[in-house]
Order: sequence, then C-alpha cells, then structure tokens
Amino acid sequence: MKELVVKVKRWLPPGEPTVQTYTVPVDEGGELSVLNVLDYISAHLDRTLAYFSHAACKQAACGRCLVKVNGRIVLACKEMVRSESLLIEPAGKEVVRDLVCR
Ligand code: FES
Repeated sequence: MKELVVKVKRWLPPGEPTVQTYTVPVDEGGELSVLNVLDYISAHLDRTLAYFSHAACKQAACGRCLVKVNGRIVLACKEMVRSESLLIEPAGKEVVRDLVCR
C-alpha cells in the first residue's frame, strides 16, 4: 500500500482560498482516477469537500468535472493519477465553493 499526498485548494468566496492536505491510500499497481481520489476523500476523510461528481456520467461525457491537476486542466473522471502528489484546484474563474465552478 502506497500513500498519495493530495493538496486541494479550497475556497468559499468571498473568503480567501486555503490549501488542505489529505493522505489517500493506494493499492500497489492499482489505478485511480482523480475523481476516484476525490470520492475517497469525500467518503472517508472529509465530507465537506465540494466537487462535481455525476453518478450517471464518469465517462468523460458531460464535461462538468473539470479541475486543474498539477497545473493542467483535466476531466477528473478521465485523468488517471500518475504521480505521488497532486495539487487539485478549481478550473473555472467563478468558484462557487472549493472545486465547484459556474
Ligand atoms: S463526470 Fe462527466 S465528464 Fe467527468
């Protein structure tokens, strides 16, 4: 079992953004999408984290799970985790809360 260090930029405008760090366990050789990581955090570590999760999609179809990961804008449901640390930020300019944008 490895550990993935995940930093998430959290923001409830008009307040100032903060960065929160989570540690997510990863099975050796296991594959995780960025959305899997956010789902894990929400289910096991912090239910207050706001992000877009569409149970009926998760197949790169709706385009609403856009986030910025390590500086690149990606679909969270499609992007596979390839490094041992992630910085996840909102991808839009108008943040509603945490990773959710208009
Ligand atoms: S959940 Fe629809 S594109 Fe990712």
